[in-house]
Amino acid sequence: NKGNYEHYMQKEIHEQPESLTTTMRGRLIRGGSCKAKTVLLGGLKDHLKTIRRSRRIVFVGCGTSYNAALAARPILEELSGVPVTMEIASDLVDRQGPIYREDTAVFVSQSGETADTLLAFEYALENGALCVGITNTVGSAIARHTHCGVHINAGAEIGVASTKAYTSQIVVMAMLALAIGGDAISSQARREAIIDGLFDLPNRVREVLKLDHEMKDLAKLLMAEQSLLVFGRGYNYATALEGALKVKEVALMHSEGMLAGEMKHGPLALVDENLPIIVIATRDTCFSKQQSVIQQLHARKGRLIVMCSKGDAASVSPGESCRVIEVPQVEDCLQPVVNIVPLQLLAYHLTVLKGYNVDQPRNLAKSVTTQ
Ligand code: UD1
Ligand code: M6R
Repeated sequence: NKGNYEHYMQKEIHEQPESLTTTMRGRLIRGGSCKAKTVLLGGLKDHLKTIRRSRRIVFVGCGTSYNAALAARPILEELSGVPVTMEIASDLVDRQGPIYREDTAVFVSQSGETADTLLAFEYALENGALCVGITNTVGSAIARHTHCGVHINAGAEIGVASTKAYTSQIVVMAMLALAIGGDAISSQARREAIIDGLFDLPNRVREVLKLDHEMKDLAKLLMAEQSLLVFGRGYNYATALEGALKVKEVALMHSEGMLAGEMKHGPLALVDENLPIIVIATRDTCFSKQQSVIQQLHARKGRLIVMCSKGDAASVSPGESCRVIEVPQVEDCLQPVVNIVPLQLLAYHLTVLKGYNVDQPRNLAKSVTTQ
């Protein structure tokens, strides 16, 4: 049921304040007078000790689920102190990459039925790793066969392009980082700031959804383009990859997400006055580096669209030709949840303007159950 919306993708983008609320329901505890703010993930509580003691956490997924794990990686590293590595499921299987008994392997899958992810899971299980699932689908293969896990509870996602599952996955993995971080005194203030940020997140997403019309205008401007680059780094490297994946998947436009730190190592050669480039430059510890990326792209006459924190338009915009997307600022590790929304809206509007099928892009299936 699409309700008042024309497409499932549109509905699922706009219902993110609600889906995020459901994801967090009953799992965040902002205790009374003597109780600290904490996280309770029922499915993991008996396994946290083992996860904390593991030598490595390996995230495994495909497509958007991989990107969500990439967005959560920095906060998991920060709060757990455990090294975190990333694996695209098919690549782990192709390489038969090393997985050990001392590893915790976390399988991220909206459907819980993706063939590549399931094969990687069987492989990790055979190698003795603790296997954790993060899925939206109760009763799916990942949910049933992993040792433990967390349901993201985002509600059914119908559009082939994953939107609300992405933001809920990031929130679950941020909660996972908080749960593994436990009660270390050194990071208590940081953990409490993140928990406050999580409580506030649905409101911030509601706020960023108001950019809908602005993104439609931007889509009109970009709809005839051949290609679109998205530069991000740090917490928002994942946002660049995921924004570009949405654009190519539904709008059938070539788009690449790139790590801004790699710009000078090749991509800079592509820059001219025609190719549109989105630079994500919201406030975090990478901000000044992104400011200098913007300057360098501008010096080469790059056609820039900059995403920045509210109030920062003047400090990021190198000139009048630059378009600016201002988004609400949240705790740095949660910023990817806010920042992806305008890009989801952009991909949606590009697709509708071009007259393509939004909910079922050509050649794609919602759940990829074959290799
Ligand atoms: C569970 C209930 C929820 C109830 C809550 C009350 C279910 C599905 N969830 O939620 O309805 O309101 O208790 O305390 O009945 N699991 C895996 N792999 C996965 C995902 C989950 O093994 O990929 C396991 C978990 O380890 C757990 C169970 O499935 O044992 C349920 O997980 P989850 O729904 O996330 O647990 P709760 O949030 O505690
Ligand atoms: O169900 P899964 O999360 O395992 O699916 C993984 C990918 O197939 C999926 O995210 C795909 O990339 C989406 N269509 C992206 O929007």
